Amino acid sequence: MSMLKVEDIHVYYGSIYAIKGVSFEVNQGEIVTLIGANGAGKSTTLKTVSGMMKPKSGAITFEEKSLLGVKPHSIVGLGMAHCPEGRRIFQEMTVRDNLEMGAYTRPKGEIEDSIAHVYDLFPRLKERFRQIAGTMSGGEQQMLAMGRAMMSKPKLLMLDEPSMGLAPLLVEEIFRIIQDLNRAGTTILLVEQNARMALAIANRGYVLETGRIIASAEASALLKDETVKKAYLGG
Ligand SMILES: Nc1ncnc2c1ncn2[C@@H]1O[C@H](COP(=O)(O)OP(=O)(O)OP(=O)(O)O)[C@@H](O)[C@H]1O
Ligand SMILES: [Mg+2]
Repeated sequence: MSMLKVEDIHVYYGSIYAIKGVSFEVNQGEIVTLIGANGAGKSTTLKTVSGMMKPKSGAITFEEKSLLGVKPHSIVGLGMAHCPEGRRIFQEMTVRDNLEMGAYTRPKGEIEDSIAHVYDLFPRLKERFRQIAGTMSGGEQQMLAMGRAMMSKPKLLMLDEPSMGLAPLLVEEIFRIIQDLNRAGTTILLVEQNARMALAIANRGYVLETGRIIASAEASALLKDETVKKAYLGG
């Protein structure tokens, strides 16, 4: 049974038709990746699922419940967290305060437990808990953004370009952490321009091109697909 089901959504920014009938699903326990070039509509798709944008038509269901018209904070409360493109952490606040901001849907009494859990996942954040977030390195800021998303104890974590702008070693570390989160039980919807690495850790993938899904398959099959190789994997 699918955890998240997106059916034929159409999304506009004013008169700009960004998502032209996209359907996909994510099953419990999976890593599913959405790959595609700049402007294909990857971020718009995630923003629509997390309730930040309204589709003109179509259906989105999470654990059998329709998300249409549900407010973003309520969607977080249902168990879905969105770690947006560009990290969007609170630059002026400390690491710890940023993490607390991620726990707004949680009972006060459980926040300390969640912080301890996130410190286990990201020991670097524990070492740096007093540091002002904006002074951390790009990779550390990405860990903070992911740690903050994990504070809501999501069943499904949506990650938008977590490897963007990071040096190769850090990219590997971020991908390893994504796999760890998944092994520990979090279902993952991963948007990436680094298609090769995303497909290497994913169960399944969808290829988005100018607002439409043009291919979907097991990740291992997409890695071998000639069209996908030419367009997205550098030949
Ligand atoms: N706020 C906005 N106003 C108008 N058009 C927008 C807005 N945000 C995105 N778009 C347009 O919607 C389309 C999809 O954009 P989106 O950000 O979803 O692409 P993307 O696949 O995430 O690209 P990237 O890889 O560059 O992040 C693009 O044509 C983009 O120009
Ligand atoms: Mg994007």
